[in-house]
Amino acid sequence: MALEFPLSSVGRADFDTLRGFLNESGYSEEFLLANFGAVSMHELLYARGARQEALEERYRGDGLALFLARLLLGGKPMGKEEITRYLPKEVERLMRETGLLNAEQRCPVLMHPAFGLLVASDRLGYGGNDFVMSGSEGLCRQFLQYIGRSPCDRFLDIGTGAGLAAMLASAFAREVWAVDIVDRAVRFTEWNCQLNGLENVRVVQGDLFAPVSGMQFDRIASNPPFEPSLTGDVVYSCGGKDGEAILERLIRDLPLHLAPGGRLYCLVEGTDREGETLDQRVVRWLGAEAARHDTALFVRDTYAPMHFAMQQVVHGNDSTAVLEQWAELYRGLKAQAVVIGHLMVQAHGGERQSFHRRARFHENAAVEDLEMCLDRETEIARSEAGDLRPVCGTGWELHVCHKPEGGGLRPSHYTFLTEYPLAGEWEVPEWLARMTPRCNGEIRAEQHAQWAKTNAGVDSDEVYRHMRALLWAGVLTLPLMEEPS
Ligand SMILES: C[S@@+](CC[C@H](N)C(=O)[O-])C[C@H]1O[C@@H](n2cnc3c(N)ncnc32)[C@H](O)[C@@H]1O
Repeated sequence: MALEFPLSSVGRADFDTLRGFLNESGYSEEFLLANFGAVSMHELLYARGARQEALEERYRGDGLALFLARLLLGGKPMGKEEITRYLPKEVERLMRETGLLNAEQRCPVLMHPAFGLLVASDRLGYGGNDFVMSGSEGLCRQFLQYIGRSPCDRFLDIGTGAGLAAMLASAFAREVWAVDIVDRAVRFTEWNCQLNGLENVRVVQGDLFAPVSGMQFDRIASNPPFEPSLTGDVVYSCGGKDGEAILERLIRDLPLHLAPGGRLYCLVEGTDREGETLDQRVVRWLGAEAARHDTALFVRDTYAPMHFAMQQVVHGNDSTAVLEQWAELYRGLKAQAVVIGHLMVQAHGGERQSFHRRARFHENAAVEDLEMCLDRETEIARSEAGDLRPVCGTGWELHVCHKPEGGGLRPSHYTFLTEYPLAGEWEVPEWLARMTPRCNGEIRAEQHAQWAKTNAGVDSDEVYRHMRALLWAGVLTLPLMEEPS
């Protein structure tokens, strides 16, 4: 059941006045986190129980920013006297006209500052199944932080919610499109763009790519719903029976809409299953298009399925009877792990071989670090393997496992350990462990292959395959590309 949309638009000049006032008011993310002693907006928005009671205390006090926190964040009813004290007449008029201040002297929506923008969305407790989230929830923030931000022409945000990704993209993309299946989300995003004075964002309602059929984009971002339907039917979270239904449709249709060289940045939550991991399934969904698209799944977290289910039950305040439904779902899927991460897909046109990679990444690695991994992999895929001139990286350790033999010790396993930006354990044959420090950026891969043939009897294809794995891991890297003359 959809409830009435509570906000109204005013003219551009009036939105400018309102924005100017709010921007000057001190009602900022920094102010809120400091005032409430919170580490994140998520913590502020979702505090419960004792934490919530402690936060209530901090709404008290004087000052415009705190007044706005009570009104816009806390949703508290305002006294006539404080409205007159803090809001200039013109601003009060605009707040009433836009619906930010209603007849009950309250703000019916949540309006919070994020990344220097002002974002209106539904308040927790909104009863409809078309709830529009704020964009500052923990996973949403991660999604936003892992979208590439270099300048681009056309940007698309699929499932825009309150529009934060689209609004942020308006600073680096010439033209931004935002799609959501929920009418309220479209209206919130349009209103938010008007309030923030962003004029290059087009907002359209519909199912995934339907509203932009025939169009291509340089960058596509999406934080699709991915909870299995057993958790409810709220549109923002429900990803069908196994939680992957929307992601699957998005990936299947993606090739029609990703411009050559374009990239998808998608937050994913799904399962590794017996016989097929999540990243392998993404490649399967691409079908024949996998030959024209590279994929990289950067894994943030993996959980044992029932551990993950238990967390969902606790966070959702569900009864433990729901746990049995989770167990049944995971048994049916033959789920081995729940995976949360960032999926990047890149269109390359098919003139070279695609690569499909997966790795865990360090929590402090930024999107630029992950993009660098993708760029390096792209450079390698474009090159003749024998022409590469790998350089030994520095951020790794080599662990050698020994076994007792004949009264002494025999080295049996060689494993490179990396942490940043990709974290992993990469087991290698002994000859590769010896070859790695020889990589100085001058010796060509073809010469390394000759060395490996002579010293370990390995053929060149095997050398190149191993070398590529270590280049992906970051144990090896490439010399800086020459500046164009
Ligand atoms: C997890 S929320 C993400 C919202 C926002 N992008 C963010 O990160 O804060 C998923 C969004 O996808 C929208 N959505 C769900 N199914 C969709 C579909 N088939 N086509 C387009 N949007 C959809 C929901 O309405 C919701 O706004």
